[in-house]
Formats: sequence, C-alpha cells, structure tokens
Amino acid sequence: MSEPRAGTGGLKVLPSDPSKIPGFAAGSVALRGPAGPEGIAPDEGKALTAGSRLEIDRLVALYPDRRSALLPALWVAQKEQGFVGSRAMEEIAAKLDVSPAFVAGVVSFYTMYQTKPIGRHLIQVCTTLSCYLRGADAVVSHLRKKLGVEVGGTTADGKFTLVTVECLGSCGTAPMLQLNDDFHENLDPIAKVDALLDSLK
Ligand code: FES
Repeated sequence: MSEPRAGTGGLKVLPSDPSKIPGFAAGSVALRGPAGPEGIAPDEGKALTAGSRLEIDRLVALYPDRRSALLPALWVAQKEQGFVGSRAMEEIAAKLDVSPAFVAGVVSFYTMYQTKPIGRHLIQVCTTLSCYLRGADAVVSHLRKKLGVEVGGTTADGKFTLVTVECLGSCGTAPMLQLNDDFHENLDPIAKVDALLDSLK
C-alpha cells in the first residue's frame, strides 16, 4: 500500500489499512500535551453539546458499521465548535468504538477539518503545481502582506485564517483559493484577491 497522497477536492486518499494513517498507533498517541511524532497537538476544545451527541447517535444508527459515521460525526463537532478539539475526538472515538488515536489520524488526513480555533473566514490557497505555475506564491505573499499574518496564522480581529493546501481539484482555473466553502478561481490579476477581501467587509 502506498503512502497517503493528496487527492482531488481537497481530500487525501485514505489507506484501507488504518496503521498507514498518519498519527495512528492504536492507543499510543496522547491527544493532550506536546505534539506527537506526527505533529498532532489539537486544541482541547469543549465537550460536545447534548444536541451534537444526539445527532452523532443518529448518524451512527444509519450504518451497519459504526465507524462509517466518523466523517459526518467529525463534521457535526466542527460545525458546533469551529474545529475538532481533542475532547470532541475522544467523545466521538468512544461513540464509534475506535481509539482516539484513530480519530486523530483521520482528522489530520483531511484539509476540511481543523484542530484549532480559526478565524471567521478560512482562506486556503492551493500551492500545488498548476496553481504554483500560475502564481500561487504571489497570491500567498499578497495575502500575507494584506492580512498581516503568516501562513497558518489568524488576524488579530479573528476574521481571517490563512493556510496553504495541496490540490483542490480546480487546476484548470489556477491560481485559486477556497474561502470557507467556496472556490475562487482565476485569481490573476491579483487585484481579484483584493476584491474578494473587500466583499467581506
Ligand atoms: S493545482 Fe489543482 S487546484 Fe491548484
């Protein structure tokens, strides 16, 4: 089995063997405290609300194998808290009868899940080949200057978080970025980035 790799749509191909998932080592990864060997150090976050627990129970009941509810359950937690913290991971692991390390490995595998609080607007700039060749670096450095944050950082007002990601599957319209759930493509000339930010004021 080959190592996990970037795939289309911002997802990565999940190996069928869980031991190949980054961060997975059944019961051996501490979710709190210093980063583990894979750099997983999620924010602790809060316990899930009763509403989210009920929703996850409902999802679990939809599948013959409760582990199949993992991705939508993580989405429930992220919708509630804005990210998936270690407490939520532990609760979901208990409900799905898997180890917290397994859940952490899956969370770290998908760019759509965040493990720390982020700004109101998440800007994910694709820096893979097509976007790179069409000026992704200029988009990133423009955003760094404009927002006053480094990649991975959040503006002081909590409005924007800037990250770079691998191919989001929109290579034909490079360079592009994803703003929250929406794609913004053909960002050349770069003034389009300013227009996009201005539209959020
Ligand atoms: S290289 Fe595919 S979307 Fe950027």
